[in-house]
Amino acid sequence: MLSNSPIQNKYMQRTPSSLALAEKAGAYFPSAITHDSRHTTPYGIYVERAKGSRKWDADGNEYVDYFGGHGALMLGHRNQEVEACIQEALAAGTHFGSSHQFEVAWAAAVQKLMPSAERIRFTASGTEATLLAMRLARAYTGRNKIARFRTHFHGWHDHMAFGVSGHFDGTATPGVLPEVAAQVVLLDPDDIDAVAETLKKDPEIAAVILEPTGSGGGMAPLAPGFVVQLREITEQHGVLLIMDEVVTGFRVHQGGAQGLLGVTPDLSSLAKILAGGLPGGAVAGRADILDHLDFQASADRGFEKIHHPGTFNANPLSAAAGAKTLEIIADTDATDRAAAFGAALRPRLNQVFADAGLGWAAYGQQASFFVFMNGTGLKIDPLNFDPLAIPYQDLKSKPPGLMNKLRLALLIGGVDISGAGGGVISATHDDNDLEQTVAAFEQAVSMLMAEDDLPRT
Ligand SMILES: Cc1ncc(COP(=O)(O)O)c(C=O)c1O
Repeated sequence: MLSNSPIQNKYMQRTPSSLALAEKAGAYFPSAITHDSRHTTPYGIYVERAKGSRKWDADGNEYVDYFGGHGALMLGHRNQEVEACIQEALAAGTHFGSSHQFEVAWAAAVQKLMPSAERIRFTASGTEATLLAMRLARAYTGRNKIARFRTHFHGWHDHMAFGVSGHFDGTATPGVLPEVAAQVVLLDPDDIDAVAETLKKDPEIAAVILEPTGSGGGMAPLAPGFVVQLREITEQHGVLLIMDEVVTGFRVHQGGAQGLLGVTPDLSSLAKILAGGLPGGAVAGRADILDHLDFQASADRGFEKIHHPGTFNANPLSAAAGAKTLEIIADTDATDRAAAFGAALRPRLNQVFADAGLGWAAYGQQASFFVFMNGTGLKIDPLNFDPLAIPYQDLKSKPPGLMNKLRLALLIGGVDISGAGGGVISATHDDNDLEQTVAAFEQAVSMLMAEDDLPRT
């Protein structure tokens, strides 16, 4: 499998055990993987263990981890206190088929950080959370349509499957009914006037859902004031505002994006950090809306209750891990430490790009960073980069093949970033991680510049 890319060849020399596992996996899984964003050419690393900000692959190579459990690990891998709570819950039993103390403590921890969570319903994932939020919005308003923003991601169920990385005209992706797609209104995240006009004209819109710091957890940020204006507009038209805080919840601020921006949504979808590194999600929000899940309220007020089972809703292990994680986030400076790491790392990466004369930029907010790879060759200065000056479509699109090669080059240097070119930072990332990351980027940039024609400043 020798390629004409020295980067790929070097990566393969370091990772023979991962290759052997990937070859076995190919007999079972489409593309040999179990999540689309793990797709890596020629294959991704197989990880054996992790601790804090680090993880080790099947060949013993060590990495600074910026995948962060797809954003679920605000406290890094294997936080000792969280682990102790999981062990305690495990020893008590993995599923009682009954209510339990852990779910009550978990809900209290959510409500303490996020006061808009008057009522909470746990789900098994973020996808289930946005699905339930949408259903609640329809039942509550009696309206059929959901409005959402192009490129914003809300999981993979039918209403959310298109207009994220393609089908921006709102047509259905394979396997999705055109009739479902017809009930979704796609909006542009850089045009609040058009949003206002659409909500005014279409009385069938039940809710607007958005990623409140912008698409891809802030990869394409929203203009300052956008969410405040959106809150006003939705209120004017009796449309519910659903903040999808699956990524931002407890990452960008102890109280999520709503805490950071000072905007109260009607409903929030939560997952990832919520469950402390185990599977779990939730819909949280106004009591009168979540009453549509309540047996007594629906009987008293004469509406049909929404049926919502789910074998793994609030499973005890996730509940224990989540409650402890949220408690640590509430009681320590974990969020601030992770954000401070981001604030220190981003300018260092931009210096690497500027020194190399490379027209790329690192940007982001709080505990995240993104690499802008400048696929259309815009003249930019990495040291003065403003993502709001770049069209959101450009921020989200990556030059084909190049992102994959950057990832391989960084893995050679012992750094794992996400397939979308971003990094999620935990409270355990430290100065050593920062220096190793900067060195890995320096090396990756020079390897890539030797191999590819890259945009220059
Ligand atoms: C903003 C957002 N919403 C929803 C989801 C779906 O969550 P899950 O992967 O738990 O289904 C994700 C997943 O990455 C997400 O980033």
